[in-house]
Amino acid sequence: RTRLVIDTDGGVDDAVALLYALARPEVDVLAVTCVVGNVDVERAARTIRALLDLAGAKDTPVATGTAQPLRGARALNRWYGDHGTGYAKLADSTGPVDPHGVETIVRLARQHPGELNLLALGPLTNVAAAVLVEPELPRLLRSAVVMGGAYTVPGNEGARSEFNIDVDPEAARIVLQAWEHADGAIPLTLVGLDVTQQASLSTSDVASLIRAAGVEYSEEDAATLSGEVAHPLCQFLLDGLRHACESAERTGGEYAAVLHDALAAVALVEPQVISTRATTVDVEIAGTLTRGETVADWFGTWGRRPNAEVALGCDVDHFRNQLTASLAKLLSS
Ligand code: BDR
Ligand code: CA
Repeated sequence: RTRLVIDTDGGVDDAVALLYALARPEVDVLAVTCVVGNVDVERAARTIRALLDLAGAKDTPVATGTAQPLRGARALNRWYGDHGTGYAKLADSTGPVDPHGVETIVRLARQHPGELNLLALGPLTNVAAAVLVEPELPRLLRSAVVMGGAYTVPGNEGARSEFNIDVDPEAARIVLQAWEHADGAIPLTLVGLDVTQQASLSTSDVASLIRAAGVEYSEEDAATLSGEVAHPLCQFLLDGLRHACESAERTGGEYAAVLHDALAAVALVEPQVISTRATTVDVEIAGTLTRGETVADWFGTWGRRPNAEVALGCDVDHFRNQLTASLAKLLSS
């Protein structure tokens, strides 16, 4: 079985990644911890709690972690709107939210040495805090997959920086250095913009998914992912993904939903969806133009221990098929 803890900042693609993990029969989501990023940490936790409840996972624990990046507050980018979920509105759940997100990661890692898998989908503030509490964390985990960084392509937040790393470069550096110094630890798998920019679902992929869940959905609505359907989880996806499509188009892309975090989730469960290269990665924290840039030592000139497997290739068809087939099962159950 795949024991999993997901750390998330509550965006639309985070939500899709979470639903994918819930859909996989071999995955046990032991907890979801929340971090500041797309939205504030409380908002992220309320969204995740409501989404888990809606998806039939009321017993999966949710916890809030750090409310600010290590260097202090900064403006949120609200790429996915004020709620992080685009146009989707979930009624706030009254279900429990634990305030000890960082401790949750540490506790689960200690409880399941060599068995816990960590999927980090937001800024690395919680993971850095967990490493500071438990320096053995890299050695305790079975795998760790991070959506973050831009290794051979430009950034999406700064010119050279990807959003999750840009929000908290110091945290990312703590995490990368902990892995560099942990002899015998499984390397971090870094799934960055190099591959995640390709991980999109078109409107027709989404429409097929909605129909595969047994929901009637007209061609006219499908063109823009509009309209109302009598299936709350499908409605959530349509309203979130429509917003993601609009954001992509506004920034010069196609009208399609780029699902960065969902690719990281699929890569954790099915590593063959990406191809990676081993290297040492560090983060620029002092640059005047490049703060938050992830720098890979491709030629080994630093003489430092490799700490990461960086994703450089992606089987996009495999990603789309696996994601939609898994989600279809969850939506029709
Ligand atoms: C990352 O930033 C967030 O907006 C997304 O959820 C993803 O984790 C992509 O740069
Ligand atoms: Ca995210």
